[in-house]
Amino acid sequence: MTSRKVLVLPGDNIGPEIMQEAVKVLQRANELFDLNISLDYAELGGAAIDLYGEPCPEASLSKAKYADAILLGAVGGPKWDNIDRQLRPEKGLLAIRSALDLFGNLRPAIMYPQLAHASSLKPDLVSGLDILIVRELVGGIYFGEPRGIRVLEDGQREGYNTYKYNESEIERIARMAFEAAMVRDKKLCSVDKSNVLEATVLWREVVSDMAVDYPEVELSHMYVDNAAMQLVKEPKQFDVIVTGNMFGDILSDTAAMLTGSIGMLPSASLDKNGVGMYEPCHGSAPDIAGLGVANPLATILSVAMMLRYSLKAPEAAVAIENAVSCVLDSGFRTSDIHTEGMTMVGTVAMGDAVVAALRLS
Ligand code: IPM
Ligand code: MG
Repeated sequence: MTSRKVLVLPGDNIGPEIMQEAVKVLQRANELFDLNISLDYAELGGAAIDLYGEPCPEASLSKAKYADAILLGAVGGPKWDNIDRQLRPEKGLLAIRSALDLFGNLRPAIMYPQLAHASSLKPDLVSGLDILIVRELVGGIYFGEPRGIRVLEDGQREGYNTYKYNESEIERIARMAFEAAMVRDKKLCSVDKSNVLEATVLWREVVSDMAVDYPEVELSHMYVDNAAMQLVKEPKQFDVIVTGNMFGDILSDTAAMLTGSIGMLPSASLDKNGVGMYEPCHGSAPDIAGLGVANPLATILSVAMMLRYSLKAPEAAVAIENAVSCVLDSGFRTSDIHTEGMTMVGTVAMGDAVVAALRLS
């Protein structure tokens, strides 16, 4: 069997802590399922700034281009807050997404029944919740030019960005979302702001035109403000949501909280060939870095997504997801998902518990 190359980018703050646990789980899955995975490491974000003076150095990018999949922890933190805006750790994340053309960001928000009481919504509103947010990741206002901060004639400064999407950019992300809906409940909601923004008038038109290719999928459209409201009012009405980069950033954080903790949510960012980068939806949490309390489950579940989408090892993916469920059944909780009567554990103990629960079938 040819080897499957995984590049690990631990990143900053809690990044290396959660990554250590995810790698433990990946290595155990590698042994159990004989996956022939080889690991390499590189820097991204603040770690790369410290070593190379830039957040996405060529050394990391060239390794990323040869990898079958990339596993990322989290980047950023106050240590790098005061450096040039172009060199901030977040720029490294945006740069690698863009350089690898990882346009399709899949962010599943799944409610583990064991965590129904950790959600800020009433348990009956969220129990059984299973939403997939498909976020466009390399276009829209995040990348649109022109952008910047300029000085106006009257001497004051003006900040500006450009929100734009062309037809092929809309089409490829919509296709990914329609395809995802086909293997789920066949409901797709496209989120835009077409009552105000022309870029999303076109978005709505292109998505609507594509519906003829997917007659089985029930397509609906929603303005983003309403979608934000519906997500906290009646989240189970959604199956797959497709939207642009900025709206997807915001709605996926909202959807994450429905499930109890953003510490549970994995994500996949895919290119047109299914090569992908996998990362937890949460950030680098500088406030708890080094304390050994961060929840590693989102990163461990990102390993499962990586095995499913890029490494074509669906049995190993299911085994990891089952192991996580089994650990939650046994009452283990990190502080972010802890409720009365449960056993509070730290990052390493949670990782060890998942490794111990991993079974061949
Ligand atoms: C995310 C993050 C990033 C984004 C930041 C860190 C640049 O919030 O992955 O959701 O806005 O895409
Ligand atoms: Mg975000």
